Amino acid sequence: MHKIIRNYIYDFKRYLKHSSSVADSKRLKLEAQITAKYHVIEKGLSMPEPRVGFGKDKVNLLISLIERYIDSGYSIETTQIQASIQVLQKYFDFNQSIKDDYILSLENKAQSLIKANIVDGQVGGTVLINKEDLLAKTQGDFKEFAYSRYSVRNFSDESVNLDILLDSIKIAQKTPSVCNRQSSRVYIIKDKEKVKETLSFQNGNRGFGHLIDKVLIVTSDLNAFKGLIERNQSFVDGGMFSMSLLYALHYQGLGACALNWSVGKEKDDKLRKALGIKDSENIMMMIGVGNLPDSLRVPISKRKDIDEIITII
Ligand SMILES: Cc1cc2nc3c(=O)[nH]c(=O)nc-3n(C[C@H](O)[C@H](O)[C@H](O)COP(=O)(O)O)c2cc1C
Repeated sequence: MHKIIRNYIYDFKRYLKHSSSVADSKRLKLEAQITAKYHVIEKGLSMPEPRVGFGKDKVNLLISLIERYIDSGYSIETTQIQASIQVLQKYFDFNQSIKDDYILSLENKAQSLIKANIVDGQVGGTVLINKEDLLAKTQGDFKEFAYSRYSVRNFSDESVNLDILLDSIKIAQKTPSVCNRQSSRVYIIKDKEKVKETLSFQNGNRGFGHLIDKVLIVTSDLNAFKGLIERNQSFVDGGMFSMSLLYALHYQGLGACALNWSVGKEKDDKLRKALGIKDSENIMMMIGVGNLPDSLRVPISKRKDIDEIITII
């Protein structure tokens, strides 16, 4: 037992030391914060009905973060900083029709940044997708399949067939897991009132939650794991299962959006009680599912260059 406690303390110390929980101006921390902020704006621009003038304070914060990044001496020639600047530009373009003093002052503040946007082509903002084109890409080549998957936040009002969901879950069951222990579980929320209640506990579905037809909750049962060395295994196995499920839903031609369950104890308890989720299961994430509309806008969500993420040893 004391070994497990020692190892949790080890995890805790490393998390405190390296995560963004303690703010400082390290490049990677600033870049992650900038990415998270610009993603919110990009996502806002992709909403079924984006609200003119939305997110002003977030834009202000984003600009300040980029300025802090530059003042700290870091290069803006990275995928994420360039994308964040393009998103600012797209935000101001979108709000051009209103003469809002606050937005105009933000645009002024961002002028020098926007001038420093040096990339060709679209790395930030949204892209319009046609349902037929997307469906054509889900049935063949894996590379085309993977590149055509987006988080979908816009759904038609046609309800999702339960058998198709069950079939998707079966496909996801082919996911590898430690010693084939298969700890993953899925809760399917189909009752409309329950869908609404479930989404009310989650903080990332504003502006599109009302269009989600069904919610899946992926969990991983701790009964499958043993000892201190497996204390984090449920998140690996459950995370991999979740990705397979997202791909399976894409294969079925459905729209899906992973919805974070990064919450504290109180919220976690509330959701467990509302849905009867077992205490032994760690909740990985929710997945909002619906049928695709004929065309939809999605955030570009620019990926880093491969050089930014690999180390060859
Ligand atoms: C674990 C997890 C939690 C997420 N939570 C949310 C969320 O709460 N709301 C949301 O709109 N998107 C959420 N997303 C979707 C991400 O924003 C999205 O995957 C990312 O921007 C990349 O875009 P793409 O999925 O379109 O490729 C989540 C994704 C993951 C993997």
